Amino acid sequence: MEVRAIKEYIAAEVIGVDLTDAIEAEMFAEFRMALYRHAVLVFRDQEITDKDQVRFSEGFGRLEMTIPSDPIGDGGPVGVVSNLDSQGEIIPPSDARSLYMQANRLWHSDGSFRRVPLKGSLLAAKCVPPSGGATEFASLVAPYAALPANRKKEIELLRAVHSLAYSREQVAPNLISSEFLRDTPPAEHPLVREVSETGEKALLVGSYAGNVVGWPTAKGRILLEELLAWCTQPHFVYRHEWQVHDIVVYDNRLCLHRGTAWDENKYKRVLHRTTLAWDEASV
Ligand SMILES: [Fe+2]
Repeated sequence: MEVRAIKEYIAAEVIGVDLTDAIEAEMFAEFRMALYRHAVLVFRDQEITDKDQVRFSEGFGRLEMTIPSDPIGDGGPVGVVSNLDSQGEIIPPSDARSLYMQANRLWHSDGSFRRVPLKGSLLAAKCVPPSGGATEFASLVAPYAALPANRKKEIELLRAVHSLAYSREQVAPNLISSEFLRDTPPAEHPLVREVSETGEKALLVGSYAGNVVGWPTAKGRILLEELLAWCTQPHFVYRHEWQVHDIVVYDNRLCLHRGTAWDENKYKRVLHRTTLAWDEASV
């Protein structure tokens, strides 16, 4: 097994493992260390079932179930991120379900609108378009370290409000059901957090963050947008071009991600997602 860095600040490929095999505890310890160091791990050519994916994901921690009222899940551990309806047909881009998925094109950390966010996710590529549809990942750790000292001091005690509605409003109004909205009230999080396993500090920004607590909305948005632009500079970003049977594991605390466009009218794109629960004590 070899962990090969893809970019200096983010992403590594893990080579020489077969994820359909049983994986020893020591190897999982190495995977976890590699994840904390690189934020994104890529495993190529892994033809796995949902059951394999759940078993592999559990090696990284406790799994979070999908929210039953979320269109991508049914309350079980595997969510389906795709442009298909339940019959396997392509959903027209103007359909509300398609617009809902458009919000994935905004930089975000999965579930940061929840009081206890999500720790990380695993995506398994089942069907990918011949071009486009890449997922981009941006470090939240290296950009914090690179901030000028006065900026770090200015933001160290700030908190931001993260809301699902704020993210979806950037795509189109009234995208989410009142039931889903009721299940997902806004949440406040520190702008800078320490990562428990490494002691490193990470920013938490992204499309769910719409206000800085105690600041006028406009002033807060300017700061949040500025920090987001800082984190998503090209040298902090890894762009993953999907191939079928890729598995990508990412730590939500250490990076943001976003989907990118492809010819959705023509090509199917299906990723199966499992999600790791955050240890509440470390929030
Ligand atoms: Fe996401």
